[in-house]
Amino acid sequence: MNGELRLNSENYGQFDSDRLDRWVQSAECGSLPAALGALTDEKSVKILLSKEKQAIGTIIEYRDLMMTYTCAMKEVLTKFDVLSTEFKVRYQRNPISSMSSRLKKTASIAEKLAKRDITFTVENIEQHLHDVAGVRVICAYIDDIYMIADAFLSQDDVTLIEKKDYIASPKENGYRSLHLIISIPVFFAKQKRDMQVEVQIRTMAMDFWASLEHQLRYKNDLSCCNDLAVRLQNCADVISRTDEEMLYIRRKIEQMESSSSKEEELLEKISKLDLRME
Ligand code: GTP
Ligand code: MG
Repeated sequence: MNGELRLNSENYGQFDSDRLDRWVQSAECGSLPAALGALTDEKSVKILLSKEKQAIGTIIEYRDLMMTYTCAMKEVLTKFDVLSTEFKVRYQRNPISSMSSRLKKTASIAEKLAKRDITFTVENIEQHLHDVAGVRVICAYIDDIYMIADAFLSQDDVTLIEKKDYIASPKENGYRSLHLIISIPVFFAKQKRDMQVEVQIRTMAMDFWASLEHQLRYKNDLSCCNDLAVRLQNCADVISRTDEEMLYIRRKIEQMESSSSKEEELLEKISKLDLRME
């Protein structure tokens, strides 16, 4: 189905353009009788009505696609939730601090496609956009990011499409995060669909920086203020060093724990039995 969501006069090039403009204006004002009144011959009315049907069909397909992306995000969130529960029980430490998901807004989808000169169709959204469904996983420590990513990617039904490691190679502005574009099957009553999801995994510290930087950049154009860009970069570096220092401290403490007595080990094992599985 190649119908476009918005009716515009370009779609109806074969008609008299003034008449069509009047029709489109009336239709956009929600007045179908007036819109139809603007047309005089029966053939035009029939074709325009079929175009409208096509547009409605596209809207239904679009809603369906968004539902499918929403379900794909649920699948991905469940996978991370399972890993989180497993690690909590096995190691008494939770590598995942929080998770969230978001479905890209229609306006952002339209904007992204328009920027690349791609028509707003259901096929084009699926083919050209990889971040309509987004899941963000916030970890405690840097090594947790890679451990969680490996555990997730090693699952049979998860296919890696693209990996961008902005931790090993931070962006020029200081942004750090591990990005994975993956594909996952979603099972429905009568079909299975492979859907793409963008997964961003980062530490709490990286997330703190990225959230504030996003807010600052969203409200203001920072391209003019080199000084502020440098300051933001410096903050990202300080945050990165803090992440590394916290990891070092945790590892030292783990080494101390691993040399504890047999009695302490037994006590620790017993305390693990009381963990609540959420
Ligand atoms: P998009 O067109 O945004 O998808 O760019 P891309 O395909 O080059 O993807 P990339 O992996 O670089 O970035 C995708 C997402 O990562 C963005 O939508 C943001 O959520 C996040 N991101 C990337 N760069 C930055 C950044 O500099 N600051 C913040 N706060 N977030 C960023
Ligand atoms: Mg992207």
